[in-house]
Amino acid sequence: MALVLSPVRLRKLLVRNRIWLAPMCMYSCENRDGVVTDWHLVHLGARATGGFGLIMTEASSVTPEGRISPHDAGIWNDEQAAAWKPIVDFAHAHGAAICMQLAHAGRKASTHRPFPGEISGVVSEHNGGWDVIGPSPVRFPGLKNPLEMTESDIDEVIEAFAAAAERAIEVGFDAVEIHAAHGYLLHSFLSPLSNQRTDQWGGSFDNRVRILLDVLSAVRDRVGMEIPVLVRISGTDWVEDGWQVEDSARLAPLLAELGCDFIDVSSGGNMPVEIPVGPGYQVPSAAAVRKALREGGHETLVGAVGLITETKQAEEILQRGDADVIFLGRVALREPTWPLRAQFELADQDMAGSTRWPAQYLRGAWR
Ligand code: FNR
Repeated sequence: MALVLSPVRLRKLLVRNRIWLAPMCMYSCENRDGVVTDWHLVHLGARATGGFGLIMTEASSVTPEGRISPHDAGIWNDEQAAAWKPIVDFAHAHGAAICMQLAHAGRKASTHRPFPGEISGVVSEHNGGWDVIGPSPVRFPGLKNPLEMTESDIDEVIEAFAAAAERAIEVGFDAVEIHAAHGYLLHSFLSPLSNQRTDQWGGSFDNRVRILLDVLSAVRDRVGMEIPVLVRISGTDWVEDGWQVEDSARLAPLLAELGCDFIDVSSGGNMPVEIPVGPGYQVPSAAAVRKALREGGHETLVGAVGLITETKQAEEILQRGDADVIFLGRVALREPTWPLRAQFELADQDMAGSTRWPAQYLRGAWR
């Protein structure tokens, strides 16, 4: 059997294949209350029936101030959690696992959603905008100047991640992912470009990674030992003085030691820089992280993401040992049934493989 079509285990969770949906903000909580809607059910539901092994939700904010835009999903209250239940149940009914990505946008919060024809840029106070926070008063170019977080702000954010994780698991999510990539709050602490603190949360590598390790420990404490906890990082800032692949390779074993089951390796987002984008452009970072983990004797799994669009390409990444799982982002927006195509292209004639074709769709099996 092709590796991408083979099941994979994280603690007690058995995922039917290694083709996972990347987290993608839909900016579709129309009431600006962080409560997901029918859009989310149909969008994520289509990817569950489309054969994805695991559905990663969009970045779901652990506090109101942690939203990128007023239309983001939230998981800071019970009403928001309850709205996810039909989506979780639908995914499970169709054989997919579902993981919530827990997020705080930090200094990149309070922006308008990037929809054509709508107002763009930062959300002003009179339009419902809010103060943004970060490790240091260093703005992301074009966005708001963040307020430097106090010790108690940091404690509150750590607690918000833990409480959100608990809420997600109570509603039936199989796992949670801590978003520490793309220049959002946790990444902005990791990177010396945005973290200029001189206290225990900044300066040395150990100080800059402290908040992420503390969030991970708090989440692990709260969800218990049976629930997989994933972490998404930016493998590199793509800037000389920034966070580097070597830093990610150094961080990975520390995450593993604290019970992180999976590292999802993306890149960039902390500075507006030119990224050398091309097929599989982030795979080398994933491979470096995986190598560091295996050399340290850690079984923690690694996900690769970024312009993985072809079924053979996906299979080769796993066959080479560069990653254990692949995530699909944009290609999954245009092709919700990509895993069914992978099943068709990579498997033999037997459609009863681990990526199940829904009975309703079997007439569409092309052979
Ligand atoms: C994203 N991405 C993203 N990443 C993340 O960690 N949390 C998120 O909520 C989002 N939101 C989001 C929305 C949209 C519309 C896109 C296109 C992307 C990044 C995404 O998960 C993925 O890493 C990148 O898109 C690269 O993979 P692809 O698209 O080349 O397969």
